[in-house]
Amino acid sequence: MELAKRLDRLPPYLFVEINQKIAELRARGEEVINFAIGDPDSPTPSHIIESMCQAAHNPANQRYPETAGLPELCQAIAEWYEKRFGVTLNPSTEVLPLIGSKEGIGHMALCFIEPGDLALVPDPSYPPYSLGTILAGGELYFMPLKEEDDFLLDFETIPGDLADKAKLMWLNYPNNPTGAVASLDFFEKAVHFAKQHNLVICHDAPYTEVAFDGYKPPSFMQIPGSKDRGVEFHSLSKTYHMTGWRIGMMVGNADIVRALFRVKSNLDSGVPQAIQYAAVEALRGSQEHIAEHNGVLQRRRDKLLKVINETGLKARTPRATFYIWARIPQGYTSIDFTKELLDEAGIAVTPGIGYGKEGEGYIRFSLTISDNRLEEGVSRLLAWRRRRG
Ligand SMILES: Cc1ncc(COP(=O)(O)O)c(C=O)c1O
Repeated sequence: MELAKRLDRLPPYLFVEINQKIAELRARGEEVINFAIGDPDSPTPSHIIESMCQAAHNPANQRYPETAGLPELCQAIAEWYEKRFGVTLNPSTEVLPLIGSKEGIGHMALCFIEPGDLALVPDPSYPPYSLGTILAGGELYFMPLKEEDDFLLDFETIPGDLADKAKLMWLNYPNNPTGAVASLDFFEKAVHFAKQHNLVICHDAPYTEVAFDGYKPPSFMQIPGSKDRGVEFHSLSKTYHMTGWRIGMMVGNADIVRALFRVKSNLDSGVPQAIQYAAVEALRGSQEHIAEHNGVLQRRRDKLLKVINETGLKARTPRATFYIWARIPQGYTSIDFTKELLDEAGIAVTPGIGYGKEGEGYIRFSLTISDNRLEEGVSRLLAWRRRRG
Protein backbone atom coordinates (compact mmCIF):
# COMPACT_ATOMS: atom_id res chain seq x y z
CA MET A 1 0.00 0.00 0.00
CA GLU A 2 1.41 3.37 -0.96
CA LEU A 3 0.32 6.32 1.15
CA ALA A 4 0.12 9.82 -0.31
CA LYS A 5 3.32 11.82 0.13
CA ARG A 6 1.43 14.61 1.90
CA LEU A 7 1.15 12.36 4.94
CA ASP A 8 4.95 12.39 5.20
CA ARG A 9 4.80 16.15 5.77
CA LEU A 10 2.55 15.76 8.83
CA PRO A 11 4.27 15.50 12.19
CA PRO A 12 2.71 13.00 14.58
CA TYR A 13 -0.10 14.72 16.52
CA LEU A 14 1.60 15.89 19.67
CA PHE A 15 -0.82 14.55 22.24
CA VAL A 16 -0.83 11.09 20.71
CA GLU A 17 2.82 10.64 21.66
CA ILE A 18 2.36 12.06 25.14
CA ASN A 19 -0.74 9.97 25.74
CA GLN A 20 1.12 6.85 24.66
CA LYS A 21 3.84 7.48 27.21
CA ILE A 22 1.26 8.23 29.91
CA ALA A 23 -0.57 5.00 29.03
CA GLU A 24 2.71 3.07 29.37
CA LEU A 25 3.33 4.52 32.83
CA ARG A 26 -0.25 3.81 33.88
CA ALA A 27 0.06 0.25 32.59
CA ARG A 28 3.01 -0.10 34.97
CA GLY A 29 0.67 0.97 37.78
CA GLU A 30 2.07 4.48 38.11
CA GLU A 31 -0.36 7.37 38.61
CA VAL A 32 0.25 10.33 36.35
CA ILE A 33 -0.94 13.88 37.04
CA ASN A 34 -1.84 15.13 33.59
CA PHE A 35 -1.34 18.86 33.02
CA ALA A 36 -0.98 18.25 29.29
CA ILE A 37 -4.43 18.62 27.79
CA GLY A 38 -6.71 21.65 27.72
CA ASP A 39 -10.13 20.11 28.22
CA PRO A 40 -12.46 21.60 30.87
CA ASP A 41 -12.69 19.19 33.78
CA SER A 42 -16.25 19.97 34.85
CA PRO A 43 -19.38 18.85 33.04
CA THR A 44 -21.44 20.70 30.45
CA PRO A 45 -24.02 22.75 32.44
CA SER A 46 -27.15 20.66 32.90
CA HIS A 47 -29.60 23.07 31.22
CA ILE A 48 -27.56 22.61 28.02
CA ILE A 49 -27.61 18.82 28.28
CA GLU A 50 -31.35 18.89 28.96
CA SER A 51 -32.08 20.83 25.80
CA MET A 52 -29.87 18.41 23.86
CA CYS A 53 -31.77 15.39 25.25
CA GLN A 54 -35.11 16.94 24.45
CA ALA A 55 -34.00 17.69 20.89
CA ALA A 56 -32.56 14.19 20.49
CA HIS A 57 -36.02 12.66 21.13
CA ASN A 58 -37.53 14.61 18.24
CA PRO A 59 -37.38 12.49 15.05
CA ALA A 60 -36.82 15.66 12.98
CA ASN A 61 -33.42 15.94 14.66
CA GLN A 62 -32.45 12.38 13.91
CA ARG A 63 -32.05 12.99 10.18
CA TYR A 64 -29.18 14.55 8.25
CA PRO A 65 -28.63 18.13 9.35
CA GLU A 66 -27.93 20.93 6.87
CA THR A 67 -24.23 21.86 6.67
CA ALA A 68 -25.20 25.54 6.87
CA GLY A 69 -26.59 24.97 10.38
CA LEU A 70 -30.03 25.63 11.81
CA PRO A 71 -31.15 29.23 11.20
CA GLU A 72 -31.96 29.35 14.92
CA LEU A 73 -28.34 28.53 15.81
CA CYS A 74 -26.91 31.07 13.33
CA GLN A 75 -29.26 33.65 14.86
CA ALA A 76 -28.15 32.72 18.40
CA ILE A 77 -24.48 33.03 17.40
CA ALA A 78 -25.12 36.46 15.87
CA GLU A 79 -27.01 37.57 19.02
CA TRP A 80 -24.17 36.33 21.22
CA TYR A 81 -21.59 38.30 19.22
CA GLU A 82 -23.77 41.40 19.45
CA LYS A 83 -24.28 41.04 23.19
CA ARG A 84 -20.75 40.08 24.09
CA PHE A 85 -18.70 42.20 21.66
CA GLY A 86 -21.13 44.69 20.12
CA VAL A 87 -20.41 43.05 16.74
CA THR A 88 -23.30 42.87 14.27
CA LEU A 89 -23.37 39.79 12.04
CA ASN A 90 -25.84 38.75 9.38
CA PRO A 91 -26.87 35.26 10.58
CA SER A 92 -27.64 34.09 7.03
CA THR A 93 -24.39 35.12 5.39
CA GLU A 94 -21.77 35.83 8.05
CA VAL A 95 -22.10 32.84 10.39
CA LEU A 96 -21.17 29.19 9.81
CA PRO A 97 -21.49 26.50 12.52
CA LEU A 98 -18.61 24.01 12.60
CA ILE A 99 -18.10 20.51 13.93
CA GLY A 100 -15.84 22.04 16.56
CA SER A 101 -13.64 24.94 15.50
CA LYS A 102 -10.73 22.59 14.79
CA GLU A 103 -12.68 21.11 11.89
CA GLY A 104 -13.18 24.52 10.26
CA ILE A 105 -9.61 25.59 10.97
CA GLY A 106 -8.34 22.40 9.34
CA HIS A 107 -10.46 22.89 6.23
CA MET A 108 -9.87 26.62 5.85
CA ALA A 109 -6.67 26.26 3.79
CA LEU A 110 -8.62 24.31 1.14
CA CYS A 111 -10.47 27.55 0.36
CA PHE A 112 -7.37 29.66 -0.29
CA ILE A 113 -4.21 27.63 -0.64
CA GLU A 114 -3.14 26.18 -3.97
CA PRO A 115 -0.10 23.87 -4.00
CA GLY A 116 2.94 26.04 -3.28
CA ASP A 117 0.92 28.98 -1.87
CA LEU A 118 2.07 30.57 1.35
CA ALA A 119 0.33 30.90 4.74
CA LEU A 120 1.66 32.98 7.63
CA VAL A 121 1.42 31.11 10.90
CA PRO A 122 2.51 32.19 14.39
CA ASP A 123 5.27 30.25 16.12
CA PRO A 124 4.48 28.89 18.67
CA SER A 125 0.89 28.07 17.76
CA TYR A 126 -1.95 25.58 17.87
CA PRO A 127 -0.80 22.98 15.30
CA PRO A 128 -3.90 22.75 13.01
CA TYR A 129 -3.15 26.19 11.48
CA SER A 130 -0.03 24.81 9.83
CA LEU A 131 -1.28 21.25 9.34
CA GLY A 132 -4.28 22.44 7.31
CA THR A 133 -1.91 24.35 5.03
CA ILE A 134 0.35 21.32 4.64
CA LEU A 135 -2.60 19.10 3.70
CA ALA A 136 -3.60 21.64 1.05
CA GLY A 137 -0.07 21.42 -0.40
CA GLY A 138 0.88 24.91 0.79
CA GLU A 139 4.03 26.37 2.28
CA LEU A 140 4.46 28.01 5.65
CA TYR A 141 6.18 31.10 6.94
CA PHE A 142 6.42 31.02 10.72
CA MET A 143 6.03 34.37 12.45
CA PRO A 144 7.88 34.31 15.78
CA LEU A 145 6.05 35.30 18.96
CA LYS A 146 8.67 36.52 21.42
CA GLU A 147 8.44 36.74 25.18
CA GLU A 148 9.99 40.23 25.07
CA ASP A 149 7.03 41.34 22.91
CA ASP A 150 4.54 39.74 25.35
CA PHE A 151 4.06 37.04 22.69
CA LEU A 152 2.32 39.54 20.44
CA LEU A 153 3.18 39.32 16.78
CA ASP A 154 5.48 42.13 15.62
CA PHE A 155 4.08 42.87 12.15
CA GLU A 156 7.21 44.78 11.21
CA THR A 157 9.35 41.66 11.37
CA ILE A 158 7.40 39.98 8.55
CA PRO A 159 9.27 40.47 5.26
CA GLY A 160 7.05 42.60 2.97
CA ASP A 161 7.61 40.43 -0.11
CA LEU A 162 6.53 37.31 1.79
CA ALA A 163 3.48 39.09 3.16
CA ASP A 164 2.57 40.16 -0.39
CA LYS A 165 2.93 36.59 -1.59
CA ALA A 166 0.99 35.00 1.27
CA LYS A 167 -2.73 34.20 1.01
CA LEU A 168 -3.63 33.69 4.65
CA MET A 169 -2.49 34.87 8.04
CA TRP A 170 -3.42 33.03 11.22
CA LEU A 171 -3.67 34.81 14.57
CA ASN A 172 -4.89 33.60 17.95
CA TYR A 173 -5.58 35.70 21.06
CA PRO A 174 -6.08 34.89 23.90
CA ASN A 175 -3.25 32.65 22.83
CA ASN A 176 -2.66 28.95 23.15
CA PRO A 177 -0.01 28.03 24.28
CA THR A 178 1.44 31.29 25.68
CA GLY A 179 -1.65 32.67 27.47
CA ALA A 180 -0.93 36.07 25.87
CA VAL A 181 -3.75 38.50 25.17
CA ALA A 182 -4.17 41.16 22.48
CA SER A 183 -5.71 44.62 22.64
CA LEU A 184 -7.98 46.26 20.08
CA ASP A 185 -4.94 48.31 19.01
CA PHE A 186 -3.17 45.11 18.05
CA PHE A 187 -6.17 43.89 16.06
CA GLU A 188 -6.32 47.25 14.32
CA LYS A 189 -2.71 46.78 13.20
CA ALA A 190 -3.64 43.32 11.93
CA VAL A 191 -6.50 44.73 9.83
CA HIS A 192 -4.19 47.40 8.43
CA PHE A 193 -1.50 44.79 7.62
CA ALA A 194 -4.06 42.58 5.88
CA LYS A 195 -5.23 45.47 3.70
CA GLN A 196 -1.68 46.52 2.89
CA HIS A 197 -0.70 43.02 1.75
CA ASN A 198 -4.00 41.77 0.39
CA LEU A 199 -4.16 38.98 2.96
CA VAL A 200 -7.03 37.07 4.51
CA ILE A 201 -6.85 37.05 8.31
CA CYS A 202 -8.15 34.07 10.24
CA HIS A 203 -8.37 34.94 13.88
CA ASP A 204 -8.93 32.03 16.25
CA ALA A 205 -10.62 33.09 19.48
CA PRO A 206 -11.92 30.10 21.48
CA TYR A 207 -10.62 31.49 24.79
CA THR A 208 -12.29 34.93 24.92
CA GLU A 209 -14.53 33.77 27.78
CA VAL A 210 -11.79 32.10 29.84
CA ALA A 211 -10.30 35.16 31.50
CA PHE A 212 -9.23 36.34 34.93
CA ASP A 213 -9.01 39.34 37.22
CA GLY A 214 -12.07 40.94 35.60
CA TYR A 215 -10.41 41.09 32.17
CA LYS A 216 -12.68 40.75 29.11
CA PRO A 217 -10.74 39.81 25.97
CA PRO A 218 -11.91 41.57 22.81
CA SER A 219 -12.87 40.04 19.46
CA PHE A 220 -10.98 40.73 16.24
CA MET A 221 -14.38 41.38 14.65
CA GLN A 222 -14.77 44.54 16.77
CA ILE A 223 -12.36 46.37 14.45
CA PRO A 224 -14.07 48.30 11.65
CA GLY A 225 -12.84 46.76 8.40
CA SER A 226 -12.09 43.35 9.96
CA LYS A 227 -14.97 41.86 7.95
CA ASP A 228 -13.46 43.12 4.68
CA ARG A 229 -10.69 40.56 4.75
CA GLY A 230 -11.16 38.51 7.87
CA VAL A 231 -13.00 35.88 9.82
CA GLU A 232 -12.98 34.70 13.40
CA PHE A 233 -13.19 31.13 14.59
CA HIS A 234 -14.88 30.58 17.94
CA SER A 235 -16.02 27.60 19.90
CA LEU A 236 -18.45 26.44 22.54
CA SER A 237 -15.86 23.94 23.77
CA LYS A 238 -14.03 26.01 26.34
CA THR A 239 -16.79 28.46 27.36
CA TYR A 240 -19.55 25.91 27.89
CA HIS A 241 -17.46 22.79 28.58
CA MET A 242 -18.66 21.20 25.38
CA THR A 243 -15.42 19.79 23.96
CA GLY A 244 -16.94 16.34 23.52
CA TRP A 245 -20.00 17.58 21.64
CA ARG A 246 -18.01 19.20 18.82
CA ILE A 247 -19.56 22.54 18.11
CA GLY A 248 -17.91 25.79 17.07
CA MET A 249 -18.39 28.54 14.49
CA MET A 250 -16.72 30.79 11.99
CA VAL A 251 -18.03 34.33 11.59
CA GLY A 252 -17.11 37.34 9.48
CA ASN A 253 -16.57 38.00 5.79
CA ALA A 254 -19.51 36.60 3.81
CA ASP A 255 -17.38 35.45 0.84
CA ILE A 256 -15.07 33.49 3.15
CA VAL A 257 -18.07 32.03 5.00
CA ARG A 258 -19.50 30.94 1.63
CA ALA A 259 -16.16 29.46 0.54
CA LEU A 260 -15.78 27.34 3.68
CA PHE A 261 -19.41 26.31 3.36
CA ARG A 262 -18.71 25.10 -0.20
CA VAL A 263 -15.81 22.95 1.01
CA LYS A 264 -17.71 21.62 4.00
CA SER A 265 -20.95 20.90 2.19
CA ASN A 266 -18.97 18.56 -0.04
CA LEU A 267 -17.21 16.84 2.83
CA ASP A 268 -19.49 16.71 5.86
CA SER A 269 -23.16 16.79 6.70
CA GLY A 270 -23.07 19.38 9.44
CA VAL A 271 -23.44 19.30 13.21
CA PRO A 272 -26.02 16.83 14.62
CA GLN A 273 -29.14 18.90 15.25
CA ALA A 274 -29.57 17.96 18.89
CA ILE A 275 -26.13 19.42 19.48
CA GLN A 276 -27.09 22.54 17.55
CA TYR A 277 -30.11 22.99 19.83
CA ALA A 278 -27.84 22.49 22.84
CA ALA A 279 -25.62 25.26 21.45
CA VAL A 280 -28.64 27.57 21.09
CA GLU A 281 -29.44 26.97 24.76
CA ALA A 282 -25.79 27.51 25.73
CA LEU A 283 -25.58 30.84 23.93
CA ARG A 284 -29.00 32.15 24.99
CA GLY A 285 -29.37 30.59 28.43
CA SER A 286 -27.77 31.37 31.77
CA GLN A 287 -24.12 32.43 31.55
CA GLU A 288 -23.61 32.23 35.31
CA HIS A 289 -21.27 29.26 35.28
CA ILE A 290 -18.67 31.20 33.26
CA ALA A 291 -17.66 33.60 36.05
CA GLU A 292 -17.86 30.78 38.58
CA HIS A 293 -15.52 28.65 36.54
CA ASN A 294 -13.11 31.39 35.79
CA GLY A 295 -12.90 31.87 39.57
CA VAL A 296 -11.95 28.21 40.01
CA LEU A 297 -9.35 28.43 37.22
CA GLN A 298 -7.95 31.65 38.63
CA ARG A 299 -7.39 30.05 42.04
CA ARG A 300 -5.71 27.10 40.35
CA ARG A 301 -3.62 29.46 38.22
CA ASP A 302 -2.36 31.31 41.29
CA LYS A 303 -1.57 28.14 43.23
CA LEU A 304 0.29 26.48 40.39
CA LEU A 305 2.12 29.63 39.28
CA LYS A 306 3.58 30.13 42.73
CA VAL A 307 5.00 26.62 42.77
CA ILE A 308 6.17 26.73 39.15
CA ASN A 309 8.16 29.86 39.86
CA GLU A 310 9.63 28.26 43.01
CA THR A 311 10.68 25.22 41.00
CA GLY A 312 13.26 26.93 38.80
CA LEU A 313 10.79 27.55 35.99
CA LYS A 314 9.71 31.04 34.98
CA ALA A 315 6.13 31.80 34.05
CA ARG A 316 4.08 34.96 33.58
CA THR A 317 0.61 35.32 35.01
CA PRO A 318 -1.84 34.67 32.17
CA ARG A 319 -4.86 37.00 32.01
CA ALA A 320 -6.80 34.51 29.90
CA THR A 321 -6.83 30.87 28.66
CA PHE A 322 -6.30 27.94 30.98
CA TYR A 323 -2.62 27.60 30.19
CA ILE A 324 0.60 28.49 31.95
CA TRP A 325 3.56 28.81 29.61
CA ALA A 326 6.72 28.27 31.60
CA ARG A 327 10.31 28.80 30.60
CA ILE A 328 12.48 25.82 31.54
CA PRO A 329 16.04 26.00 32.87
CA GLN A 330 18.81 26.36 30.31
CA GLY A 331 20.53 23.19 29.20
CA TYR A 332 17.33 21.22 28.63
CA THR A 333 15.26 20.71 25.53
CA SER A 334 11.53 20.92 26.18
CA ILE A 335 11.20 17.23 25.27
CA ASP A 336 13.95 16.20 27.73
CA PHE A 337 12.43 18.33 30.46
CA THR A 338 8.96 16.89 29.81
CA LYS A 339 10.32 13.35 29.95
CA GLU A 340 12.17 14.08 33.17
CA LEU A 341 9.02 15.49 34.79
CA LEU A 342 7.06 12.45 33.68
CA ASP A 343 9.67 9.91 34.78
CA GLU A 344 10.76 11.55 38.03
CA ALA A 345 7.59 13.27 39.24
CA GLY A 346 4.81 11.47 37.39
CA ILE A 347 3.68 14.81 35.94
CA ALA A 348 2.68 15.23 32.30
CA VAL A 349 3.04 18.62 30.61
CA THR A 350 3.26 19.59 26.95
CA PRO A 351 6.72 20.27 25.53
CA GLY A 352 6.89 23.70 23.87
CA ILE A 353 8.55 22.37 20.73
CA GLY A 354 5.23 20.75 19.83
CA TYR A 355 3.93 24.25 19.06
CA GLY A 356 6.87 25.24 16.85
CA LYS A 357 10.56 26.06 16.93
CA GLU A 358 9.97 29.17 19.06
CA GLY A 359 8.27 26.98 21.65
CA GLU A 360 11.61 25.36 22.43
CA GLY A 361 12.70 26.27 25.95
CA TYR A 362 9.11 26.24 27.27
CA ILE A 363 6.55 23.80 28.58
CA ARG A 364 2.79 24.26 28.88
CA PHE A 365 0.71 23.42 31.94
CA SER A 366 -3.07 23.24 31.59
CA LEU A 367 -5.31 24.17 34.54
CA THR A 368 -8.12 21.84 33.52
CA ILE A 369 -7.52 19.20 36.16
CA SER A 370 -9.49 18.79 39.37
CA ASP A 371 -8.42 20.68 42.48
CA ASN A 372 -7.34 17.41 44.15
CA ARG A 373 -5.15 16.39 41.24
CA LEU A 374 -3.73 19.89 41.06
CA GLU A 375 -2.86 19.71 44.79
CA GLU A 376 -1.17 16.38 44.20
CA GLY A 377 0.70 17.84 41.20
CA VAL A 378 1.85 20.81 43.26
CA SER A 379 3.16 18.52 46.05
CA ARG A 380 4.96 16.38 43.50
CA LEU A 381 6.57 19.40 41.87
CA LEU A 382 7.81 20.65 45.24
CA ALA A 383 9.10 17.20 46.26
CA TRP A 384 10.83 16.83 42.90
CA ARG A 385 12.45 20.24 43.34
CA ARG A 386 13.69 19.25 46.83
CA ARG A 387 15.12 15.97 45.54
CA ARG A 388 17.02 17.81 42.82
CA GLY A 389 18.42 20.21 45.41
C1 LIG B 1 -6.28 27.79 19.98
C2 LIG B 1 -7.29 26.71 19.77
N1 LIG B 1 -8.10 26.78 18.72
C3 LIG B 1 -9.03 25.86 18.49
C4 LIG B 1 -9.18 24.77 19.34
C5 LIG B 1 -10.20 23.73 18.98
O1 LIG B 1 -11.34 23.78 19.73
P1 LIG B 1 -12.65 22.97 19.28
O2 LIG B 1 -12.32 22.20 18.05
O3 LIG B 1 -12.96 22.09 20.42
O4 LIG B 1 -13.68 24.01 19.01
C6 LIG B 1 -8.36 24.65 20.45
C7 LIG B 1 -8.48 23.48 21.33
O5 LIG B 1 -7.67 23.20 22.16
C8 LIG B 1 -7.39 25.65 20.68
O6 LIG B 1 -6.56 25.61 21.73
